[in-house]
Formats: sequence, C-alpha cells, structure tokens
Amino acid sequence: MSKIDILGFGLQKANKKISNFDLEKKVDTSDEWIVQRTGIQTRYISEDKNTSELGYLAAKQAIADAALQPHDIDAIIVATMTGDYITPSTACMIQKKLGINDKQIFAFDLNAACSGFMYALFVASELVDKFDHILVIGSEIISKIIDFNDRNTCVLFGDGAGAVVISKGKHEVYSYVNSEGNDDVLISHGLGLTTDYEHVNDQSHYLYMAGNDVFRFAIKVMQQAIEKVLEESGYTMDDIDMIIPHQANYRIISHVAKKMKTDMSKFFVDVNEFGNTSAASVAIAYSDAYQKGVITKDSRVIFVGFGAGLTYGALLVDGGKENVVE
Ligand code: UT7
Repeated sequence: MSKIDILGFGLQKANKKISNFDLEKKVDTSDEWIVQRTGIQTRYISEDKNTSELGYLAAKQAIADAALQPHDIDAIIVATMTGDYITPSTACMIQKKLGINDKQIFAFDLNAACSGFMYALFVASELVDKFDHILVIGSEIISKIIDFNDRNTCVLFGDGAGAVVISKGKHEVYSYVNSEGNDDVLISHGLGLTTDYEHVNDQSHYLYMAGNDVFRFAIKVMQQAIEKVLEESGYTMDDIDMIIPHQANYRIISHVAKKMKTDMSKFFVDVNEFGNTSAASVAIAYSDAYQKGVITKDSRVIFVGFGAGLTYGALLVDGGKENVVE
C-alpha cells in the first residue's frame, strides 16, 4: 500500500471563455438545452497556448504552492490525449519549460482519455518510493479534436490544465483502475498512421461520441469504482470529506449521488464553469476545490473518473477528519 502527501496544487485556465450564448450563434443549440442536459454554462478554449504551456503554468503554481523549486522535481507525468506532438512527450516539453536539464528526471505522457489524471495519480502513487517529488499534470486542448459544427460534442468540452506535486507521505492510497477495451462509443481517430490520398479531407480526428451509451456507462462504473475503494479502505461515504468526480455532466454526477444515497454537497462540481476538460478535469477540480477552500491538503478524498477506452476507476486518498475546512 503506497502512502503519499499532496504538497501543492495548480490550475491554469485557457484564455478564451465561451458561453452557451456564444455557441448558440455557431450551432443549433440553446443555453436552456445545454444547462438542463449538462449543467455547463461556460468553458475555456485555448487560442494562444499549446498543451505543454497550459500544463507548465499549472505545474509552476503547484511547485510554488509546495514551497519547492523546479529543480526539486524528480518525475513528471502528464495525462493528456491532445499533447503538443506525437513525440516528444508533453512531459518532456514541460520539463524543458521548467528548465530542469541537469539531473535525473523520469518524464512521460499517459493517455487514458478522461480517466487520465486519475490513472496518472495512481501511477505516481506507486512510484513515490523511487522519486522524491513527482509532478502529476492533467493538461488538455480538447478543442483540437472538436468539430465546432457538431452540436453533439462542441457544447460539452473545454481546455485547461491542473497539476499537483506529490511525495511519499502519510496518506494511504486505495485504488481501483479498470478498462474495457472499447472503441465503439467514444473515439477520435487522430492522424492516421498510413498515408491515403483518397481521404485527405477525412475529418475522423474529430471526437465521435455515442452520448447516451457513455452516459449509462458512466453512472454504472462511477458507482462501482467508488464502492470498490470504500470497501478496500473500510470507510463509508460518511467518512469521506469530498468526492472529486470527472466533470463531464452535472446529471451524471447527480445520478451517481442519488444512487449512492449521498448528498450532492459531497461531490465537488465545477463543470458549470469549465465544461469537460477530459484528462485535465479531475486535476482542475481538485485544485479548484483546494483554492476555493473546500478541501485541504489533508482531506480524505475520492477521485473517480471514466473515459474513452473505456477506462474508469477511483482513488481514495486518506486524510484526517480534523483537517477538513468547515
Ligand atoms: O468524458 C467522457 C465523455 N463524454 C460524456 O461523458 C458524455 C456522456 N453523455 C452525456 O453527457 C449526454 O448523453 C449528452 C449531454 C451528450 C446528451 O444528453 P442526452 O440527454 O443524453 O440527450 P440525447 O443524446 O438523448 O439527445 C436528445 C436530443 C436529440 O434530439 P432528438 O433526436 O431527440 O430530436 C439531440 O439531437 O437533443 C439533441 N441535441 C441537442 N439539442 C440542442 C444533442 N445535442 C444538442 C445540443 N443542443 N447541443
């Protein structure tokens, strides 16, 4: 069982805030539909920064919040599916921006779609015996793969980055991570690996989503994953200070809360402001909750997520009731 401390938090918004009313002008949608079906009111789109730049700015804040210097970082894990390049990794680009080039660093990207930050935190928690200070970042410019003519997807997503610094510490981590090996309901083909001049205008890099299927899947597996980590830890919902769920849709989160007979106030929600930022979503929500004073670095929290793959899971980071902000 690994034990960690969360040392610092960071959050970087993308530059352009887009309201539902802005999207009404682009596609056949309405503020009323978007708010009722998703809870989303705004999202941020990055016009001036790439994925590594957003991640770097969030990382800088997390390092400062941890009272560390960039040089103290020993490993960098970036959860993303919209990195700057196919190679080198976004983690290496963030390392470059942080100016850490004269010591041993372990840096790589991890793609688990919207479960990315939760997967990355799980991996990092398994590495704390080997590396003193691990930077775990979720950074995404999901607008790179969004078709802004498709109302089924363009109203849902946004860009941004969140980061934490972790080390070996006193908080036990209980985890459950899983994947179904599915490419039917959520896929972006990205750049093909073969050249095919017949399909040069192919738009299959745009995200395709069977929304209803993902909706039902999400509710089922979020509950399952939360129950798994509760069971493993021996805690009940009453013992948990805050649940930080993947911010895809307010209705998904409220269905899970209802099924688990838990008050919505136990679930942190900022999807109304950020939309779905994929791998960055839980990282942003965690930092947002901390910056708003809803949790401390010692709160007992559960992260829970799901995404393309279909990946899903939950992580319970133990804390102490006495440390909760009332
Ligand atoms: O991070 C992981 C990835 N994604 C998700 O987690 C998303 C999971 N799914 C969802 O959140 C929901 O399924 C959606 C928000 C995507 C859709 O909500 P829904 O309540 O499942 O709506 P629906 O797909 O059943 O669509 C209802 C109607 C359809 O019209 P018809 O066929 O009934 O005439 C859609 O064409 O709403 C229509 N619609 C829209 N109308 C206005 C779909 N998108 C829009 C839109 N504005 N933006």
